[in-house]
Amino acid sequence: MTIEGQRLSATVAVSDKMPEIVSIGPAFSPSRELLGRAVAHGGLDEPVPLGIVAEESNGHMGRPGLMGMRSDGTAWSPRFGCVAYEADTTRLWVKLHDPIAQLELEIELVIDDVLVVRTSLTNTGPSIYVLSRLSPSIPVPATATELVSFRGRWAREFSLCREPWTGLRVVENRRGRTSHQSAPALIAGTAGFGEQHGSLWGVQLAWSGNHELAAEVLADGRRHIQAGELIAPGEVMLEPGQSYSMPEVVVAWSNCGLTSLSQAFHAHARSFLPISRPRPVSLNTWEAVYFDHDLERLCALADAAAQVGVERFILDDGWFGGRRNDRAGLGDWWVSPDVWPEGLDPLIDRVTVLGMEFGLWVEPEMVNPDSELYRAHPDWTLTTPGYVPLQGRHQLVLDLGRPEVADHLFASIDALLQRYPIGYLKWDMNRDIVQGSHGGRPGARGHVIGLYSLLDRIREAHPQVEIESCASGGGRADLAVLRRACRIWTSDCNDALERQAIQRGFSVLFPPEVMGSHIGPATSHTTGRTQTLAFRAATALFGHLGIEWNLLEAGEEDLARLAAAVAAHKRLRPLLHSGNVVRLDHPDPSVVAHGVVSPDATQAVFCLSQVATGSSELPLNFHPVGLDPHAEYVASLASELGLPRRAARRKPPWFPGPVRSSGKTFERQGLPLPPLDPETCLIIEFTAVN
Ligand code: GLA
Repeated sequence: MTIEGQRLSATVAVSDKMPEIVSIGPAFSPSRELLGRAVAHGGLDEPVPLGIVAEESNGHMGRPGLMGMRSDGTAWSPRFGCVAYEADTTRLWVKLHDPIAQLELEIELVIDDVLVVRTSLTNTGPSIYVLSRLSPSIPVPATATELVSFRGRWAREFSLCREPWTGLRVVENRRGRTSHQSAPALIAGTAGFGEQHGSLWGVQLAWSGNHELAAEVLADGRRHIQAGELIAPGEVMLEPGQSYSMPEVVVAWSNCGLTSLSQAFHAHARSFLPISRPRPVSLNTWEAVYFDHDLERLCALADAAAQVGVERFILDDGWFGGRRNDRAGLGDWWVSPDVWPEGLDPLIDRVTVLGMEFGLWVEPEMVNPDSELYRAHPDWTLTTPGYVPLQGRHQLVLDLGRPEVADHLFASIDALLQRYPIGYLKWDMNRDIVQGSHGGRPGARGHVIGLYSLLDRIREAHPQVEIESCASGGGRADLAVLRRACRIWTSDCNDALERQAIQRGFSVLFPPEVMGSHIGPATSHTTGRTQTLAFRAATALFGHLGIEWNLLEAGEEDLARLAAAVAAHKRLRPLLHSGNVVRLDHPDPSVVAHGVVSPDATQAVFCLSQVATGSSELPLNFHPVGLDPHAEYVASLASELGLPRRAARRKPPWFPGPVRSSGKTFERQGLPLPPLDPETCLIIEFTAVN
């Protein structure tokens, strides 16, 4: 049977056995004869199915979809029979049972812009069932011979790793948070796919903890991608009658390149993002003052922020307890009388009088051993009894799986939100989880579940408060946290050159309105590179814009340019935050090009970044993508950011516009460009005219 969504359909073979996904892509209905397979020489006498949960018991000798056992070692290889199903045009639900292993499985497929797979396992037996893997299989055609995964590190997240797909490729994360190193996503594509061509199948796991995704070429030539939690030994032990529901597996498909795959992921995220108003331009105090909080200076910073058009002022780390540096204070969520003798009121009053919203940094999941909280409750940490725990940034993780810890954190945050008019929380999480035990057993998973319920509780009690997900930058970016957060702090790196790559990788999975992107100071704090304001602003412009720069050190000219950049963002924001993201392949690797096109294609804005010196004497013409070929457009350079240095001296005749032509002509002929210095950008707008 076939379920059909907006952008893809899924054909599933349902029988009295484990259902099999036959195909994900365009709708079609092959006959039973065509679905039947031959048997291989030297193999089993029966054809081997590749069920949604791949079963060893049916001859599948690749990675099993379910692994676990009872304490006596039985029930390790169940074989399920289908006992019930329901289907309509967009949803299929199947219930399966194995009376011998005494396990029940429920699988639900729901299709819209993407296919969402939900799977749960129930122990119907009389003894504990120890689960170690539940990981559905998404089949991919044999023509998908390339894989993309996401690697990275602190300050260099979302690095696209493209490689040939042969054999088994496993992507694992054991850091307890989504991680900088390995996003929970895998994409398979046909050979040589590009941004606008090729077929792709993308899988994301909606989960903020340990994960395991695998792309496997089976011995018989079939290919599948599995995705699930990485479950530590003993982390999921199902009591009789107890169920385990795994995180959603989200599958997107495109037959016209990676850009279109991203658009499907973006449409999915947009269907549930907790965003209801334009994204306020922010100023974050971290790189401006670090821990050096001083009311007068911060008020002056707020004045400068308001002058350049900032709408939300965020006080970062350092305002609470004994937090004068990163060695103490985490856990003590009260305003420090040492640095804020009159509380936060004087600063918040100033911020609100200036017409801005006030935001506050918190890191509730953590505790410094040097804190009141730790001294009172040393046993609240996610550690293993008897061992000296490893610290990260001088801190330990609190066990959010313990109700008293979650209650305490809720009460602390709730008190702050009751006391002060706070519109936004930057929710940080600055270390990996190591040997994290809850009652001696693995506790990272329980921590993630505790985090979700704490976030949900806070959002329910304070629906007007927006939450940003930060984990030393982009260490917690996934589709589950995005159900609770309006923004992701993409990276601690504000270097615009690095950001070109980081944001491009991020944009493959998530839409621009959740991508925190800040204009930093001229010299980057994380790399030491110095860049022009125009380059920094053009790079940050396309996300949820912010500023992270001590504006008290900026000159008049810079402040005027910054105000112009903020104004440009506000003018373009409705398009940037609702349109279709387009990334372009560019024949010259020294150029990075991307843009956003409105859904009706009447407006588009592109950014062309010269990230290194070009190999030719002149840049290649710029060919926009996504315009309506039959519509007439006027193209011009966004005027607010000014012209790149020296570009005006050797410019082509149309430059900087306006110039009028059809969408088809712009796409085919392209716009000739002036020579561009490295680390400069052109922002080009297209507006349809009658
Ligand atoms: C993390 C965040 C930064 C900043 C610091 C504060 O590194 O990613 O943006 O908030 O913590 O300690």
